[in-house]
Amino acid sequence: MMSTRPAVPAPGSPAPGKLSLPELEGLKAARRPIVMVTAFDYPSGRIADGAGVDLVLVGDSAAMTVLGHASTVPATMDEMLMLTAAVTRGCRRPLVIADMPFLSYQVNDEDALRNAGRFLKEAGADAVKLEGGGTGAIARIRALVGAGIPVMGHVGLTPQSATALGGYRAQGRTTETAVRVYDEALAVEAAGAFAIVLECVPSAVARRVAQRLRIPVIGIGAGPDVDGQVLVFHDLLGLYDGTTPRFVKRYAELGAQAMDAVGAYADEVRARAFPAEVHGYAIADDQLEAFETAALEREQARERR
Ligand code: KIV
Repeated sequence: MMSTRPAVPAPGSPAPGKLSLPELEGLKAARRPIVMVTAFDYPSGRIADGAGVDLVLVGDSAAMTVLGHASTVPATMDEMLMLTAAVTRGCRRPLVIADMPFLSYQVNDEDALRNAGRFLKEAGADAVKLEGGGTGAIARIRALVGAGIPVMGHVGLTPQSATALGGYRAQGRTTETAVRVYDEALAVEAAGAFAIVLECVPSAVARRVAQRLRIPVIGIGAGPDVDGQVLVFHDLLGLYDGTTPRFVKRYAELGAQAMDAVGAYADEVRARAFPAEVHGYAIADDQLEAFETAALEREQARERR
C-alpha cells in the first residue's frame, strides 16, 4: 500500500527547495550572476523569496535602515536574532545569511561560536557573515567553519570599522591597499568561507579578485565583473532617506509612495470619507432593535441609581 504520509527530508538534508552551497558554487562555475538582497523582516523576506533572489542577507545595515541609528555599530545580537527569525519565516528558497553584529565575534573564538550558533539554532539562519580579512577575522572564520557553520566573508569597505578606515570611502584605490584587499580576500577563502562580499572596491581590482577566487564574490560598489551583486532592500526601493552611496540604484520610490498613501488616508479620516459602509459590519434589524431596547434600559437604570 502507498504511504499517505508526506515525505520527510532526511536529517541533515536542506529544506526542500532551498538553494544548497554546492548549487551556489555551481552558479559561479556556470557564470550565472548571483542575486543577493538584504531583508529585515517577514514581508521583505517574502518579497525577496517571491522575486527569486538567491541569497538573502539580514544585514546589520538594519541598525540604520530599520532602527534609525547613524551607523551599523549599535546593532545588538538580540535585535539581529529577532530580525533574522522573521526573515527566515518568510524565505523558502534563498539561503538566509545573518550578519554578525559588531563585538559579537571580534573578542574571541568562543564568543563568535556561541553567537553564530544562536543565529542557526534560534533564528533558523543558514549561514553567518562577518567583516574583515585580518588575523582575528580569519581565525574566527576558521573556528566557525570548523564547527560546521557556513561563513560568508566581507572585505573592502567594512562598515563596522568605517571610522578606522577613514570613513565610508572606497578601499583599494592605491597599489598598496588594492593588494591588501586582494590578500584579505584570498585569506578569507583559505579559511573556509563559502562566499565573500566585496564592498566599495575599484571595479578592476574586484574583477581580479573574482577571477582568482574559487568561491563566489558578491559585489556592492565593486563593478559588474564579479559573481553576483547585493543591494540593501531599503536603498533599492527608495525607503531609506539617509545618505545614499553612489553605487546604489533605486528601482522604486516606495518611501514617497507610502507617504502619499498615508497622507491620503489622513485626509479621508479628517473628511469622514473613510471608513465607508463597505468597511463596516452589519447587524440584523431585529437584533439591533433588541440591542437598542437593552441599552436604553441600562441607561435608565443607571440614571435611577
Ligand atoms: O549590512 C549590510 O547590509 C551589508 C551589505 C551592505 C553587504 O553588509
